[in-house]
Amino acid sequence: MSNTVFVLNGPNLNLLGMREPEIYGSDTLDDIAGRLEDKAQGLGLEIEMRQSNHEGHLVDWMHEAQADNARAVILNAGALTHTSIALYDTIRAIRTPVIEVHLSNPHTREAFRHKSFVGMAAVGTIAGFGALGYELALDAAASFEP
Ligand code: DQA
Repeated sequence: MSNTVFVLNGPNLNLLGMREPEIYGSDTLDDIAGRLEDKAQGLGLEIEMRQSNHEGHLVDWMHEAQADNARAVILNAGALTHTSIALYDTIRAIRTPVIEVHLSNPHTREAFRHKSFVGMAAVGTIAGFGALGYELALDAAASFEP
């Protein structure tokens, strides 16, 4: 197994920093990537950080993570979390463990955010800790058997 952790981000997460900062915080995705890279170095891991507004890209990238024998996938699927059976099927189809991350805590928000197709298939979920959640997820990924 490789030391690479894929960090995949779905719709609208490219707007982090300016998007509803009272909910999602003021860090941009690049800020988060920078901190993750520093942390990954200390853990002997490498990160592959990506973002797309298109569901199929997330599917393809999870297939790629498995083909590359990645250690784990950290996935913030944005709103696709609550709608995408394709992501549910993909997470179940691959052997690579997937960790679900959300900046906000969807359970304290609108009812339509309470259901997570990603969470139904992921190894575990980290939500509600803002950008720190990505770093907590990286700690979890580091704990997986190489
Ligand atoms: C989110 C929560 C989702 O409900 C929302 O659609 C997002 C961001 C989060 O990180 O808190 O786009 O995944």
